[in-house]
Amino acid sequence: MYINQIKTFGFRNLEVSEFNPNPNVNIFIGKNGHGKTNLLETIYVASKGKSFRPGKIAEWRCQKVESNLPCKLEFILKDNNHSHKLKILWEEDKKQIFLDEKKVTSGKLLQVFPTILFSPESLLSIKEGSDKRRTLIDEVLTSSIKTQHFYTQYKKSLKSRNRFLKESKESGQFNEILFKSLNVLFLNFSAQLTAARIDLLFKLSPHIKKAMSLIFGNELKFDFEYIVSDRLVKSWSPKEILDHHEARSVELKNAELSYGSSLVGAHKHDIKFILNGQDVRYFGSQGQQRGLILAFKMAEVLYRFEQGDKPVLLLDDVLSELDLEKRQKLVEFLSTFETQIFITTTDFIDDVKINGDYYNINLGHIELNQRRND
Ligand SMILES: Nc1ncnc2c1ncn2[C@@H]1O[C@H](COP(=O)(O)OP(=O)(O)OP(=O)(O)O)[C@@H](O)[C@H]1O
Ligand SMILES: [Mg+2]
Repeated sequence: MYINQIKTFGFRNLEVSEFNPNPNVNIFIGKNGHGKTNLLETIYVASKGKSFRPGKIAEWRCQKVESNLPCKLEFILKDNNHSHKLKILWEEDKKQIFLDEKKVTSGKLLQVFPTILFSPESLLSIKEGSDKRRTLIDEVLTSSIKTQHFYTQYKKSLKSRNRFLKESKESGQFNEILFKSLNVLFLNFSAQLTAARIDLLFKLSPHIKKAMSLIFGNELKFDFEYIVSDRLVKSWSPKEILDHHEARSVELKNAELSYGSSLVGAHKHDIKFILNGQDVRYFGSQGQQRGLILAFKMAEVLYRFEQGDKPVLLLDDVLSELDLEKRQKLVEFLSTFETQIFITTTDFIDDVKINGDYYNINLGHIELNQRRND
């Protein structure tokens, strides 16, 4: 699947724009504040029905005084034999999505129009708390129908268990039998999600290593760890993971009751990304952290190819903090991907062989600069 046409109306500073992206690489060059991220945001919103930036439609709608355009996005998507018309419009701030003129939900969009985004905020997955790293891996898990149930079942059982603990705390009454039945399910789902995350990290690892060696040469050796209550568990069997969950649940039962919420489970785990034996969160340079998270996104694309998916790759400001040689290697590597890619940058990337188009973005206007088919 690739995007054959993008039309925007009244979305941030893009106002009215229309163009036909290249099925391979599309590079957008523009000064700070001219609309590069806004353009990637339109694609992201069209693929997921929500933005990766904070705020709602009130912030997206073009705020130019003289503009009273409706906020609307229209895309033509193509795959081997089919063409789909996708339209998202906001009327009185209520979102409506139409696929081939039929009203659909955001869930349907995820199936027909998969995207993977790298934005400057992606770096937070390394720099910030464990929730960001869990989200990073859970997003990959939930992108596949085969693995998304590990996440959804766990989330549901966590919600029920938390509700039970909260109500027990508030009422001062504890129903042991009900807790046991909730807990058995919860611990099993948590152990399954943990094993699925570890399995996925093992599957992504060779792709991450390949992408890292293409960007950095062989100077950085990648590894990962999965951490459950300070224990390194990546080599544990599913049975050992479940046993550990059960033991922790017994240990923490009283604390959970007085806290009124679950202290054991996959929502408390962490993932450590390691370069040359050191945790990249504390030891990695800015460029190394950026390179690693980028390699993770490349790995996600390659993994999704294996699953039969062809996600569109959105890379916002991906080249900053990489030196010229690494930029060139990265763009050349990306050009070998058989999927559509959108890259934004403030500078022209010279001397790089790409199979694709260069565009300028100037005060929200998108113009084809150069069509290259090397
Ligand atoms: N609702 C809106 N209506 C009109 N303009 C908007 C709206 N929201 C944001 N903008 C404008 O969009 C511009 C920011 O665009 P964007 O974030 O795409 O810039 P950019 O090209 O990615 O810049 P940088 O290189 O700094 O990341 C700002 O000038 C901002 O004023
Ligand atoms: Mg930007």
